[in-house]
Amino acid sequence: MFKHVEPFPGDPILTLNEQFGADPRPNKVNLSIGVYLNEAGKMPAMRAVLAAETALAADLGTRPYLPMEGNAAYRKAVSALTFGDAVPSERIAVAQTLGGSGALKVGGDFIARYFPQAAVWVSDPTWDNHHSIFQGSGLKVKKYRYFNPATGLVDFMGMLNALETVPAGDVVLLHACCHNPTGADLDAQQWREVAALVKRRGLLPFFDMAYQGFGQGVDEDAFPIRHFAAQGIPLFAATSFSKNFSLYGERCGSLSVVCADAQQADNVLGQLKATIRRNYSNPPTHGARIIARVLGDAALRADWRAELDGMRLRVAAMRKGLYDALRERMPQGDFEYLVRQTGMFSYTGLTAQEVESMRVESAVYLVGSGRLCIAALTQATIAPAADAMARVLKR
Ligand code: LMR
Repeated sequence: MFKHVEPFPGDPILTLNEQFGADPRPNKVNLSIGVYLNEAGKMPAMRAVLAAETALAADLGTRPYLPMEGNAAYRKAVSALTFGDAVPSERIAVAQTLGGSGALKVGGDFIARYFPQAAVWVSDPTWDNHHSIFQGSGLKVKKYRYFNPATGLVDFMGMLNALETVPAGDVVLLHACCHNPTGADLDAQQWREVAALVKRRGLLPFFDMAYQGFGQGVDEDAFPIRHFAAQGIPLFAATSFSKNFSLYGERCGSLSVVCADAQQADNVLGQLKATIRRNYSNPPTHGARIIARVLGDAALRADWRAELDGMRLRVAAMRKGLYDALRERMPQGDFEYLVRQTGMFSYTGLTAQEVESMRVESAVYLVGSGRLCIAALTQATIAPAADAMARVLKR
């Protein structure tokens, strides 16, 4: 019956993560999957999350089915965190989703139904799963120029020129902050230029913001979304709380659609609900309760932001630490890209073969594209990571 089912070649990130888990070497270092580790090399349980969970444990209540669009307090809090006061909330259709991936999937299915002719343009390179998710929704996925390997930064003119060729009505996927996989972000002025182009050409932006708080700060990272919305540009925004609440397995995300008026937003929300019902019916309760509690309480929210700021600063220190360690080992090497890029990741330029050698010889894991998760480095792992990189680069 199932003879025609071909083997799964694996996912470039999740399968590698499984391989890391099965690696028996005690000195192994995982810089592949995009997770934040603290100085002890652990995923933190954030203080505000623990406080919210403790309060919830005292009063668990029942666990009914949530509405298709999710927990109302969560949706309200998420909307404020994403948009600030850039646009009246009645113009935004917001649904709780299964992480950021769930938001992309619900958005992809919605686009396939209501904009069936639209292609989705993603940056070159982008997170591999963007291709898979949108193709899985039956959409055509195309690439726009984004990264300049020579500088390790955004090729901004190349990007603008590419976006000028995108047909009106097509969807453009934009990373709001902490570009995955390159760590190369636009600055505020560049975002303003992209917004003007998108508006003039009638493109439909779809923001992915999986790392809010890890770039420049919670509000700074949301600037592109808020600016586009304030310009009256209709848009999609997928957000995730996996990293900034360290709640990976709770699958907490959201999909927002900014519409022209409240009536459109009502209709869009209705169709998002229908899309969710067709996919997984309704989202789970627990993670949303935690996040709604933290964001809905001024003291917990302030503590969450303070801890997240500390995490962001630790990542920046690891970036500088790896840069210094590599300069020490290879004074002639050009590692400037590391300190020019921002966020969770850096695109090292290492080839798939060099990455494989680092894994085999040194038990240091990067993604095959050369992406290194800076946020998973610690003071203790900087040296082995730099040693492994220098060893392959010196060949
Ligand atoms: C990543 O890019 O490593 C993370 O977003 C985790 C994932 O699902 O790929």
